[in-house]
Formats: sequence, C-alpha cells, structure tokens
Amino acid sequence: MAEIPPPKILIVDDETAQMKALCNTLKDHGYETVGYSSPKPALAELGKSEFDLLLSDLMMPEMNGIELLQAARKQSPDLVCIIMTGEGTIATAVEAMKSGALDYILKPFKLSAILPVLDRALAVRRLRLENVALSRRVEERTAELEAANKELEAFSYSVSHDLRAPLRHIGGFTQLLAQTEPSFSTQGKRYLDLITQAARQMEQLIADLLDFSRNSRIEMRQIPVDLQELVERILQDLQPEMAGRKIAWKRTPLPPAQGDPSLLRQVFSNLILNAVKYSRTREVAEIEIGCAGNAENEIVIFVRDNGVGFDMKYADKLFGVFQRLHGPDEFEGTGIGLANVRRIVARHGGRTWAEARLNEGATFFFTLKPAVLPVAAENGKI
Ligand SMILES: Nc1ncnc2c1ncn2[C@@H]1O[C@H](COP(=O)(O)OP(=O)(O)OP(=O)(O)O)[C@@H](O)[C@H]1O
Ligand SMILES: [Mg+2]
Repeated sequence: MAEIPPPKILIVDDETAQMKALCNTLKDHGYETVGYSSPKPALAELGKSEFDLLLSDLMMPEMNGIELLQAARKQSPDLVCIIMTGEGTIATAVEAMKSGALDYILKPFKLSAILPVLDRALAVRRLRLENVALSRRVEERTAELEAANKELEAFSYSVSHDLRAPLRHIGGFTQLLAQTEPSFSTQGKRYLDLITQAARQMEQLIADLLDFSRNSRIEMRQIPVDLQELVERILQDLQPEMAGRKIAWKRTPLPPAQGDPSLLRQVFSNLILNAVKYSRTREVAEIEIGCAGNAENEIVIFVRDNGVGFDMKYADKLFGVFQRLHGPDEFEGTGIGLANVRRIVARHGGRTWAEARLNEGATFFFTLKPAVLPVAAENGKI
C-alpha cells in the first residue's frame, strides 16, 4: 500500500523566531512544514507546490493574514486556513473566519491547544476533497448513463422503425395472395387472415413503441397548465369511446400545474381511457378525477374507477412497457399506456403509483409540480 505523505503546512509569521520554532515543533509531530516571515514569498511558494493547510499570523506589515488567506485561496481553493492572533484582535479574527479562515488560535498558545485545531482543519480539508471527488464521479456517471440511455433510445427507435417496412410487405403480400390465388382452401384462407391480423397487431405494437420512444425524446415545455380545462377537453374528445355507457362522473377541482400541456394531456387521456375501459363490465361505472394533495411543491392527482381492478402484487409491473393483466379477448390494448404515463410524469419530476383490489376498482395516482405563475390565456392550450 502506498504510504500517505504527512500533511503539508505553510506557516507565515513576521516574527521569524516564533515561525521557526513552530515549524520545528510541528515537524517533530509528523507534519511537513515550510515557513516564511512575510506573505509574498509564501504566496509564491503556494504557486509552486501544493499545501494542505495555511497557518498565518494576522498582523503583518506588508499584507495582513486576511488578505493573505484570500489571495492563497484564489490560488488554491481547497486549502484550509487558520489564523493566529494576539488576544486584543479577536474581532478581526472573527472577521478572518467570515472571509474563509476555518479557525483561529490565540497567541501565545501551547502545543496541546494547536494540535487538535490542526487535526480538525485537516479533517475538514479531507472531507472537502472527498466531496469534490464524489460530485465529479456522480457527474461522470450521470453523463455516462445519459449517453448510454440516448444510445439505447436511438437503437430502439431505429430498430422499431426498420421493422416496419418488412412487416408492411408481409401484410401487403398476404392480402395480395388471398386476392390473386382463388384456389386456397377455406383452411388456407383462414391462415392468411391470421397472418394479416398478426402483422397488423405487430404494426400497432411498433407504432406504440415509437410513440413511447418519442415521448422521452421530444423537447418538453414547462408552462403553467390549467388541468381543469385540460380534463374538460379530454372528456369531450372521448365522447365516442363512451357511447352507450352509463358513467357517473365525479370531479373535484384540480389546481394548475407546471408542465407540458400536450404530454400532460397524454397522461390524463391514458388514465381516463383505462378507467372507462376497465369499468365497462359495470352497469353504472363510477369514475372520479380529483386532487388528493396540494402542497407547496407537489400536487397529487388521482383517477379512480369502480371497474375490474387488479391484484396489488402487480401494481408496479403495470407501468412497464407491454405489461398487461388482461388478455385481448377481455380488454383490447397493447399495454403501453401506463408506461407512457410513468415516463411523462417522471420527466416532470413526479411519481406514479396505483392502488386497487381485484373486482373492486382501481385508483391511479401521480404527482406534478404546482404552476409557478397563474395560467396565461394562451397557455395550457393543447
Ligand atoms: N383502471 C384500471 N383497472 C384495472 N386494470 C387496469 C387499469 N388500468 C390499467 N390496468 C391494467 O394495467 C395494464 C396496463 O395498462 P396500460 O394502460 O399500460 O395498457 P392497456 O390499457 O392494456 O393498453 P394501451 O396501451 O392501449 O393503454 C392493463 O392491461 C390492465 O391489465
Ligand atoms: Mg391503457
């Protein structure tokens, strides 16, 4: 193991004899010391080699301790500084601490008094350095992850995109075959139908995957959005989906949120569509849209229904891509809606979760940041 070098201390005191004595005593205690009796050459030394700690007298003729420590920290920002001062100048010593000294020592001092102060200051320096190294590491890791994520996104986008052309060929030629070859048996025609259906389903999956991928890449706006109006419009647009259904709507006021109106529209549409879809076995569906919490930095929104619900052990899985609890014969869908909801809400800095019981309805929650300004007339429009 590499040996740890002793801490290196720069000592500056215009009383040369005292400075030399301190250098020697600290050297005896395992420190490496370099001493100067005036600040300027000490600063020049700092430019040449690295020190852990500066121990400086306060009152010196050419430049006082405060000026020295300010100049020194400009050159070497991680350096920790301790000021030595006589009894009469405590106020100035406090001033020194305000301008960046970590501690001060009153003169005359005993060795037993100075050693713990030095230890503490060096521990602070170590912590500072570790902190800097840690933040650098976090930044590097974040950059690496972002790059890897982008690459993966680009890859899945191009794969999905490239899969479309051969798939269209399969669909197209199967249909052509069915039309131009009348000699197919009934069984053969059924197979052709199944191939066409499967190709269509795969086209839908790919289209959904591309939308999902687009949602995480498109530039996001951050403006105040009138959620109340947003829901109003969605409900109007969903009228065709609700034809022939009896739905008892319950709505409580939603506060304005900060975000991207068209992305937030997707969040609400997906959750409301799910509530409508998974409650269609009920004679009268009950769907509630409301706000479950309105704190200073977070609003909690929910969409609740009295539909088929689900077992809570799957509650988190549902937010994954193509994860479905219900088969296509029971409820149609590709299983990407909630994945979109989670991703969009996460891009807004929010969380998503669900609560449900099998056959007793489900509630989906998500959080958003409240609007920072009132909603402008032209904002919040989708
Ligand atoms: N309100 C709900 N009640 C019961 N189960 C639900 C509800 N919402 C979602 N689920 C379950 O979660 C699964 C995933 O939902 P998600 O919205 O992602 O997909 P989907 O509705 O199946 O298809 P689509 O991609 O068209 O939205 C659903 O298949 C269903 O099993
Ligand atoms: Mg859905």
